[in-house]
Amino acid sequence: MSREFDRAYWEEQHSGHTAARTDDPNPHLVGELDRLAPGTALDAGCGHGAEARWLAARGWRVTAVDIATAALRRARDRAEPLGAEITDRITWLQADLTDWIPTERGYDLVISHYVHPAGSREVLFRRLAAAVAPGGTLLVVGHHPSDSHSAARASGPQVHFTAEEIAADLDPQRWEIVVAETRTRSVAEHADHAEHAGNHGHDAHADHEGRGAVLRDTVLRARKRA
Ligand SMILES: C[S@@+](CC[C@H](N)C(=O)[O-])C[C@H]1O[C@@H](n2cnc3c(N)ncnc32)[C@H](O)[C@@H]1O
Repeated sequence: MSREFDRAYWEEQHSGHTAARTDDPNPHLVGELDRLAPGTALDAGCGHGAEARWLAARGWRVTAVDIATAALRRARDRAEPLGAEITDRITWLQADLTDWIPTERGYDLVISHYVHPAGSREVLFRRLAAAVAPGGTLLVVGHHPSDSHSAARASGPQVHFTAEEIAADLDPQRWEIVVAETRTRSVAEHADHAEHAGNHGHDAHADHEGRGAVLRDTVLRARKRA
């Protein structure tokens, strides 16, 4: 088991600089889920909570889980200005996704963005898939193996994977694959002091001159058959 991505690692990453980071939700999430009717959602590895906030603002009741208390502190702070009507829809939960088991069939939507835990990615994603209610949606976004920006910082099967690899673990009798693609994402901001976590992947930063970068992401959206 890799110790590189344990709790101490993530606490440290989340304790870094934050000034240059965007609060925008991940564009793949927005593109895919904008028109999905709200229900209950699990955000596995929520970081600073941009996606949880976006979902809650659209009426979702979100359980937002992260291993790092530093991430959740920041997530709560950033949510506060939205007001109680929205923040009351979010439950922030400190838990290690390698041993915390979400309720089976408990959520209409399960999302996981750029989460690469210590331990088996396959086991984690199987649990997340099991947590999707019949008729519900699973959205996994990660770093594609061809993404050189993330590869410069970390590598390995936990960090880089294809949508096809995730889809191969979903029983076609129980799942409809809606999207299994490699998509690009542009990052415009300058972030010399980029923190490495909680913002759409720890490597979502521009180059040293502040020019934008184009990242290559894995996007898997699947619907559990009712
Ligand atoms: C690269 S960040 C991505 C954060 C957020 N999903 C986003 O897209 O901005 C990965 C997040 O997963 C969390 N994480 C990593 N391993 C975890 C685990 N075993 N259990 C819960 N959260 C974990 C980290 O603390 C971090 O916030």
